[in-house]
Amino acid sequence: MPKWSDQDYLKTQQYHNADKLNARAALHQRFSVTKLNWFRWVFDHFEIPAASRVLELGCGPGQLWFENAERIPPWDISLSDFSLGMLAEAQAKLFALKRPFNYAEIDAQEIPFADASLDAVIANHMLYHVADRNKALAEIRRVLKPGGRLYAATNGSAHIRELKNWLLQVFPAELLSKAGAGPAVSALGFSLDNGAKQLGRHFSTVICEHFTDALKVTEIKPIIDYLLSINLVTALEVPPELTKRGLAELRESLERQLAEQGEIHISKETGLFISS
Ligand SMILES: C[S@@+](CC[C@H](N)C(=O)[O-])C[C@H]1O[C@@H](n2cnc3c(N)ncnc32)[C@H](O)[C@@H]1O
Repeated sequence: MPKWSDQDYLKTQQYHNADKLNARAALHQRFSVTKLNWFRWVFDHFEIPAASRVLELGCGPGQLWFENAERIPPWDISLSDFSLGMLAEAQAKLFALKRPFNYAEIDAQEIPFADASLDAVIANHMLYHVADRNKALAEIRRVLKPGGRLYAATNGSAHIRELKNWLLQVFPAELLSKAGAGPAVSALGFSLDNGAKQLGRHFSTVICEHFTDALKVTEIKPIIDYLLSINLVTALEVPPELTKRGLAELRESLERQLAEQGEIHISKETGLFISS
């Protein structure tokens, strides 16, 4: 099974806590071109009535709610993730908001809610990790009330393509393709390009909203930290010696690029599917 949908790897290594996710988020937070906050932009798209029951799947450290703290309506909100470490981080972070959230350990493939019991389900940047995505989408459809909505953010194939190309320059292509290039680098199983088709099997209306942005990076370390966060050794199965050598080569080449151009451009392609 490819690592980015290997549930055991994801739970015990990639997402056992938020450190690796935070390393990737840091690159976006520090070097994104747009002044729009991604989590505020997502929230702007919510059309959820005041007295609604809302479930977030794969909530990670709860950033969506933290960034929108002052404008969360009186919804009954359940935050869930299949990683207990992530749930603990969400709970610690959101404690300061002094508003109730329910927390639950839930695998998106088996949602312990009754049929037609929820007004909205949120599943941001997580459906590409789910091994049996069709089952998860059927579960989401089952728990939503008629007229309820699924909000599911994901990336497009051009997202961080430069990072993928740099990996290909320094590591053997067969190692990278065997591993599918690892979580966060390869989200192509459920992407902006093919997500609508998958959602269309379960929902009659699927809309895709695009978030326009790019990265202009002026330091090398956050790029290397990003690459390290995808566990080159364990996820990509690149041998440690090769990892060390490859990263040193990459660092040198990025330093040259930075000296010549003053910044390093990285493409972003991200968006939100709204299905009902
Ligand atoms: C890339 S993070 C996204 C976190 C958060 N939604 C965000 O947008 O910042 C993916 C999250 O999905 C969780 N996850 C992956 N597969 C899952 C599954 N089958 N069921 C529930 N959570 C899952 C991971 O533990 C991780 O917290």
